[in-house]
Amino acid sequence: MANILCIGAGYVGGPTMAMIAKHCPEHRITVVDVSAKRIEQWNSENLPIYEPGLLEVVQEVRGRNMFFSTEIALGIEEADMIFVSINTPTKTYGEGAGRGTDLQYWEQVARAILSNSKKKNVIVVEKSTLPVRAAAAMARILHSESNGVHFEVISNPEFLAEGTAIKDLTEPDRVLIGGRSNESGHKACKTLADLYAHWVPREKILLANVWSSELSKLFANAMLAQRISSINSITALCEKTGADISEVSHAIGMDKRIGPHFLQASVGFGGSCFRKDILHLAYLCEHYGLPEVAEYWDSVVSMNDYQINRFFKNILTSQFSTLANKKMAILGFAFKPDTGDTRDTPALPICRKLLEERASISISDPQALDNARFELEGVEGEIHYEQDPYLACQGAHSLLLITHWQEFRQLDYQRIFDSMAKPAFIFDGRNFLDHQHLFEIGFNVFPLGKPALSHLQ
Ligand code: UDX
Ligand code: ADP
Repeated sequence: MANILCIGAGYVGGPTMAMIAKHCPEHRITVVDVSAKRIEQWNSENLPIYEPGLLEVVQEVRGRNMFFSTEIALGIEEADMIFVSINTPTKTYGEGAGRGTDLQYWEQVARAILSNSKKKNVIVVEKSTLPVRAAAAMARILHSESNGVHFEVISNPEFLAEGTAIKDLTEPDRVLIGGRSNESGHKACKTLADLYAHWVPREKILLANVWSSELSKLFANAMLAQRISSINSITALCEKTGADISEVSHAIGMDKRIGPHFLQASVGFGGSCFRKDILHLAYLCEHYGLPEVAEYWDSVVSMNDYQINRFFKNILTSQFSTLANKKMAILGFAFKPDTGDTRDTPALPICRKLLEERASISISDPQALDNARFELEGVEGEIHYEQDPYLACQGAHSLLLITHWQEFRQLDYQRIFDSMAKPAFIFDGRNFLDHQHLFEIGFNVFPLGKPALSHLQ
């Protein structure tokens, strides 16, 4: 039996550790966090994050072989293996501001591990997405004092996506473990691989060197985001030429070399990873004297900003270039369905722009209203929050579909149309609704990358 600790009880640490606890009942897993509120929530029925299926797993393991605590020093003292799963936000100050990763919390954790570890051998697992060579920096800190502990730092990036975390953790495409190519490195990687092998087929557990592992994580996110920016760039061209993005995306996705996934046109990607990781990748390239490579990846983010702005401009121009005193119903504020997470959600810049035009906004989201309130705190203008989407739409001039929650497809759009101001507009930021049906009800429908269906001449 080993004592496994995870520092950071967030979107990554919580679900990942719950899954390890579920499949490895012989080990004791403790998850610690600086936030007492978060830990209290993890110990309740009201978990701090919404993730389908997570509560069931937590209920199964909590108190059995999984524990949530704020006692970080004690946790480190007892640990044989420490996962570091803290947030690594984009730096907002000094050198690399707006691009590089802010590593202050990472370094604090390294120092806490150094001063509190008591076991003879401790494996430190880098779980957070980090700059390439962060593990080496962590190892330097850990080896800076001789306290009799042998630390081995390995990289094990997490590829789960929010909303599907439990499925992704249960059946991962691969588990990647990066370590040093010496005996101690191999041993640490094997220990971690054995843990995953409780439920992941061995052939899906990949071993690599530390830097390949770190870079693979950044690059995987950059590639995924690039696909979205690519398809979104073509929505603009479709709207000019009369081509239909759904047909184009279907046609190209059938090419095995391209594949059908991640080709869904959207108002723009969001979430805590894509923008941050690409900016960091580009910063890394600049740092290593590769400005052309940096510029290439930067353009993925610029295209995303362009798409968000284009969506907004379309709302403005199709409503006679004035939104003042008009009510806009915002369906969905989370960055994607099945999560309450609003980090970097495209809904935020869109709401800000609408408010600057003096529109009033009424937001409905099944899980993200608290976070929406937090994101919009202090922003000037008339903002309403409605759990009930019908209330959000009542009297509205436009309906903006930002997040494709299943429940939004099942709404009674005739009832919504009847309650809205006329002419009534729908801007579908996910190409998710039945546009022909909406048009027949009487809406003026503005999809992405396909001809608008308008009753106005
Ligand atoms: C992503 C990666 O998928 C995951 O592997 C990594 O561990 C963390 O970052 P996540 O941000 O949770 O996961 O969600 P993801 O499903 O990748 O979606 C990111 C954004 O892209 C969302 O805003 C989503 O709506 C958008 N998206 C996704 C599209 O606009 N079109 C698509 O076809 C797919
Ligand atoms: P992610 O999406 O990467 O999991 P989150 O922000 O959801 O990121 O979670 C990161 C967690 O790490 C937060 O709950 C935060 O309080 C915690 N955290 C940050 N710094 C430290 C630290 N030095 N020690 C312990 N926990 C930390």
